[in-house]
Parts: sequence; structure tokens; C-alpha cells
Amino acid sequence: MNVKVELTINDRKVVADVEPRTHLADFLREHLRLTATHLGCEHGVCGACTVLIDGAPARACIALTVALEGADVKTLEGLADDRRMRVLKTSFHERHGLQCGFCTPGMLISAWDLLRRKPDISERQIRQEMSGNICRCTGYQGIVRSIKHAADTLQSSVGV
Ligand code: FES
Ligand code: FES
Repeated sequence: MNVKVELTINDRKVVADVEPRTHLADFLREHLRLTATHLGCEHGVCGACTVLIDGAPARACIALTVALEGADVKTLEGLADDRRMRVLKTSFHERHGLQCGFCTPGMLISAWDLLRRKPDISERQIRQEMSGNICRCTGYQGIVRSIKHAADTLQSSVGV
């Protein structure tokens, strides 16, 4: 039996009838056509499905939609106009932060949250903080370089 749920997604109120087993990633992709959120392992391990739930990064593949009544969800689409995200995207593009792009949405959301919490960060700290996001093809060097470059760019323009 479907359950009615009401939540906010990318600043928009959404009301839907969903099956209790529907996880947030499927809900975003299949019900709302918000396909920036990728699915990899579907076991909460790889981080490809990372979104923001009530402002904190969370695995959309293990969050049941019916449990998110009243929650505030942000996906990559919802951060399209955000400056920190724009800088990160440019940096990933220019510093080889992606190859196939499968892990990239989750990487970007996690990196966005990381630079919000720790704007002045070292490469070593980036490796530690981003260890919950798995990439199967870049070798990570480009990802770490991209995040560090974005951090430096944002830091150098503080107050500008
Ligand atoms: S798809 Fe959700 S953590 Fe891998
Ligand atoms: S860029 Fe291919 S999985 Fe990370």
C-alpha cells in the first residue's frame, strides 16, 4: 500500500504517494526525473548517491522516502546556481576530476559540504574526508587536485 509523503526537494514542496520500499534515489530519479543523483552499490557503500538531507550529506540509496516526511533535500540540480558548487565543477572539469563521471555527483556534493565545513584544507585532509566516496576509474589524484584547487580558488576570493 502506498504512503503519502510531503517533503521539500530543491526548495520545492513535493507531495507524493510512494511505496514504503522506495528509497530516495529511486524517488528522485524515477518520480521526479532528477537524474543527477547516481546509483552505484545501492548498499550505502560507494557514495555515488550522496545528496543533502536537512543540510547534511546522506546516502540516498539507504534513505527510505516515506521516512523523510518534512525533510529538506538538496540534489546536485538544486545547487546549480551555488557559487561553491560552480567553482568545484569548473575545477573538476579543468583538473581531470572525473573520467566516466559515475561517481562525480556524489563527489561534488561531498566536496561541497567539505569546503563549507573546512574551507582551508590540505590534500591529506581531503583524502581522509573524501574516503567515503569511491571512484572506480580516476585513481583519485585528479579528484583530490580538483577539490584542493577549488578550495584555493574560493579562499583567494573571500571578501572579493
Ligand atoms: S549507491 Fe548509495 S552508497 Fe552506493
Ligand atoms: S570518474 Fe568513473 S567512477 Fe569516478
